[in-house]
Amino acid sequence: MQRLSAKNKAVGKTIGLVPTMGYLHAGHLSLVKKSKEKADITVVSIFVNPTQFAPNEDLLKYPRDIVHDKKLLKKAGVDYVFIPSVEEIYPKGFQTFVEVDKITRHFEGEFRPIHFKGVTTIVSILFNIVRPDYAFFGQKDAQQAAIIKRMVKDLKMDLEIIVCPIIREQDGLAKSSRNIYLSVQERKDALVLSRSLKTAQRLIKEDTKSATAIINKMKEEISSVSTSKLDYIKIVDKEKFEEAGSLSVGKKYYILIACKFGKTRLIDNILIKT
Ligand code: PAF
Repeated sequence: MQRLSAKNKAVGKTIGLVPTMGYLHAGHLSLVKKSKEKADITVVSIFVNPTQFAPNEDLLKYPRDIVHDKKLLKKAGVDYVFIPSVEEIYPKGFQTFVEVDKITRHFEGEFRPIHFKGVTTIVSILFNIVRPDYAFFGQKDAQQAAIIKRMVKDLKMDLEIIVCPIIREQDGLAKSSRNIYLSVQERKDALVLSRSLKTAQRLIKEDTKSATAIINKMKEEISSVSTSKLDYIKIVDKEKFEEAGSLSVGKKYYILIACKFGKTRLIDNILIKT
């Protein structure tokens, strides 16, 4: 992969990287489409990264279907699919990690303490191998995207991070590889996430400025669904990812939700401009 990237760069071609953990869906394919529009060469990596899963998380259970993924990527016109092995990425003796500090401590970081250290480490390794000019991430993992942007800025990495909008099912559920874990009832119940984000959007349009008032209304809506178990709802400033108490005019915020339905933990968010 390093040789292929060097060869393409030597003839002046730009490279777009879409890092994934496979089990691809329309969300991933929208990133591929963006990359193909922006870069000469598109590389998709598929690697279920063990260092971002805690021992109690779903590493072994994480859904995989390389044959189907390759078919989708061929159809999408991707130039290279990079599927390294765990041993290649983390050979014996591996002991170097990349860790972003403040912005990783809250929200997802509180519930998944080792997660982001694993993400920034693998993403750095992939950047070093593929040497992309652009890398594409989904807004669905908004905190992950903000952390990677921070890392790229702090470590002076020479590439642009492009964050692409959430792709939803027709009924509003954000696309995720984890949706397959939901039972029929949980799948129905999970729609409360996108509904509550719409409620928040409406309240903000009606000029509600208090984050607590918005969050309380969302909590009320979510708790009315019996299989839901809310981890958090937070309103954060888009750039710094710091919690907002009240919304200021002309600024952008993410409203973030993490909620379990049965054993499946889903995250969702909406970007709002006041
Ligand atoms: O968002 C994901 O799928 C993963 O966290 C990523 C960025 C591919 C790193 O393993």
